[in-house]
Amino acid sequence: MWRKSVLIFLAIGFVFVMIGTTTAVEKGNERKGKYLFRKNCRSCHQEGKTAAPLNPNTKTQAQWERAFERFERFECADEWKKLSEPEQGDIFAYLYNHAFDSPSPATCE
Ligand code: HEC
Repeated sequence: MWRKSVLIFLAIGFVFVMIGTTTAVEKGNERKGKYLFRKNCRSCHQEGKTAAPLNPNTKTQAQWERAFERFERFECADEWKKLSEPEQGDIFAYLYNHAFDSPSPATCE
């Protein structure tokens, strides 16, 4: 009898793992990413500030991917380097998941 419950238990576990891997689009924490982006990037990338305004929906997912691959060429590379890699990952998750061509494009107002 208990063998049957072990099988059911394993089956449920498997389903949860599958859901986990398919819905996690990017491994960063997008809620933290939004906070970090507003705190560390929007100080310049905002209407009336020194750099072009940036929002998640300013770029497509492919454009964000490219931007994060080559941020060292940007004028603000030093600002990125102040952040840890996990923090950059959180910002990426936020921007990517709400990009122009994502299912839920967004501004960060
Ligand atoms: C001290 C001001 C400042 C900060 C802080 C800053 N940037 Fe920039 N950034 C600039 C300037 C100036 C440029 C070059 C001019 C432009 O693109 O407006 C630039 C360029 C860029 C570009 C390339 C241009 C484009 O529109 O594709 C991206 C992407 C970018 N920044 C993203 C970020 C991200 C993400 C952060 C936070 C981790 C950040 N920036 C923080 C000033 C800043």
